[in-house]
Amino acid sequence: MARRIRIFDTTLRDGEQSPGCSMNLGEKLGVARQLERLGVDVIEAGFAAASPGDAAAVSAIAAEIRGPVIASLARALERDIDAAWEAIRASARPRIHVFLATSPIHMEHKLKMGAKEVLERAAAMVAYAKRRCEDVEFSAEDASRSDPDFLRRVFSAVIEAGATTINMPDTVGYSVPDEFGELVRSVRSGVKGIERVVFSVHCHNDLGLAVANTLAAIDAGAEQVECTVNGIGERAGNAALEEIVMALRTRADRYGATTGVETTQLYTASRLVSSVTGVKVQPNKAVIGENAFAHEAGIHQHGVLANRATYEIMTPESVGIPQSVMVLGKHSGRHAFDQRLAQLGIRVDPKTLPELFERFKALADKKKVVSDKDIEALAIGAAIQPQERFRLDRFVINSGNTIAATSTVRLALQGGGHAERVAVGDGPIDASFKAIDQIVGKRPVLEDFALDAVTGGKDAQGEARVRIELEGRRYNGRGLSTDVVEASVRAYLGAINAMADAVGDAAGDAADDRTGGLDGARDRT
Ligand code: KIV
Ligand code: ZN
Repeated sequence: MARRIRIFDTTLRDGEQSPGCSMNLGEKLGVARQLERLGVDVIEAGFAAASPGDAAAVSAIAAEIRGPVIASLARALERDIDAAWEAIRASARPRIHVFLATSPIHMEHKLKMGAKEVLERAAAMVAYAKRRCEDVEFSAEDASRSDPDFLRRVFSAVIEAGATTINMPDTVGYSVPDEFGELVRSVRSGVKGIERVVFSVHCHNDLGLAVANTLAAIDAGAEQVECTVNGIGERAGNAALEEIVMALRTRADRYGATTGVETTQLYTASRLVSSVTGVKVQPNKAVIGENAFAHEAGIHQHGVLANRATYEIMTPESVGIPQSVMVLGKHSGRHAFDQRLAQLGIRVDPKTLPELFERFKALADKKKVVSDKDIEALAIGAAIQPQERFRLDRFVINSGNTIAATSTVRLALQGGGHAERVAVGDGPIDASFKAIDQIVGKRPVLEDFALDAVTGGKDAQGEARVRIELEGRRYNGRGLSTDVVEASVRAYLGAINAMADAVGDAAGDAADDRTGGLDGARDRT
C-alpha cells in the first residue's frame, strides 16, 4: 500500500516571513481557508511571539479552521512557548513547534551556547511545551550543517521529553539530494524512540534544490514534508507544495507515496497566495505557471492534438487550471454563475456569494463577456475580505497632457461619515494616492506598483497591485476594475487598510524580533 506523506504547510509562517510577503489578518484567514480546502495536514499559522498581530492571526485561524492541525512556531524559550499555546489553544488540533539551532556555526555565533547547553535546553523546552500541548514538534535548525551524531542525541532527547514530530531542516538550502537523503537515513537509524514519532524535513531553495531534496528525503523515509504554496519563503524560498504533491502523484510508480491534497485546488491556492502577497508566479513555474501547459512549437501542438499524453505528463484539469475562455455575460443568472464557480473548482464562503454575484453583474454590465479569469480574480478578492477602515466612495480626476493632474477622493470612514481631499500629482494615479494620504494622515513610501490586464481586449479588467512601506513594515493591496485609475486607487486603499489594521499592533511591531537566537538579535530565522 502507498505510504501517506503528511503535508505541513508553512506559507503563513516561513512564507510570510520573506520580504514583501506580509499579509494582514483577513488575508491570512482567506489563505488558511483555502489550505483547508486543499487538504493539507498541518497549517503553520504563524509565529505567535513575533508580534501581537501575528498572535491574533494564529488565534483567529485556530478558532476557525477545524480540519488540519494548527501549529505556531516558538523559539526554545518559555515566553515563546506560552505565546504559541495561548494562540493555538482554541484549535481542535493544536501543535507547538519548538526550534533550536544545532549546527556549530549557529550555536557559536548566534546562540552563544555550547552543545551540552543546546541539548539540555531543547529537551527542557519540549518538556515545557508538552505540559501544555500533547502535539509538540521539534526542529533542529540548520540540521544539514550539524554533526549527525549530535543531531541523533538531540532528537533522542527531545523524543524522550515528549516530542511527537522531529524535523530536520536544510535551513540555508546547502544540501544536495543524494547527500540529504543519506543524512535522513543515517540520522533516522540512530535515534532512540524514532518509531514513536513522525520524521519531517523542511528544505530551503538557495541552490534551487528544495523540492529535489524533499523528494530524496521521502525516499529515505521522511513521513512529513514542510513546504509553501508557490515556494515562497525566506531568501530563495521553501520547497514548493504544488511541485512536491504533483511529483508524488505523477510519479507514484517511483515513490509509492500519496498525500491528502485535493490537487484540483492547487491553482486557486497559488493565485490566492500570489494575489495577497503581491509576489507574481513566474510564467514557466512548474505545475501552476501560466506556461506550464502551453505548447508553442508546431510539432508539440501536433502531438498534443493527436494525444495530450505525448507532451503532457499531467493535465491542467488535475491542478485546477481553468480551461474555457468565455462563458458568462450580463444575462447570466445566479444559477449559471454558481455552476461556473463549481466547474472552476472555486469554493467561496456562502456568506460572500451574494456580494460576489453583485460584483459579477456590475462587471458584466461593463464588459460583453466575463471570462473565467475575470471570475477567478473576483473570487480572490472575495476570499480575502480585508477590514475596510476606509472605503472608496468616489473619485474625480482632472488630467491631460498640458495640465497638472488633480484628483478629488472621497472615502467612507468605518466609524461613520466621510472625508474628502483634493491633491495635485504627477498624473491621475499619483494625485489620487496623495489625496488618500492626506485623508489618512500618513505618508507611506510606495515601494511597488504594477498594473496588469486580467484578460485581453480593450474592455479588460485591470488588476493593480501596490506595496507600501511605513516605519519598516510593508503592506500589500490589490484592486480590480475595468478603469485602471479605479483599480489603482482600490489597490492603494487595500494597502492603506492593511496598514491601518496593523496600527493596533504598533507596540508589538517594535518588539517584532523574529530571531532564531535567544538574545533578541534581529536576524530572521
Ligand atoms: O528553516 C528553518 O530552519 C526553519 C525552522 C524554524 C523550522 O524555518
Ligand atoms: Zn525555514
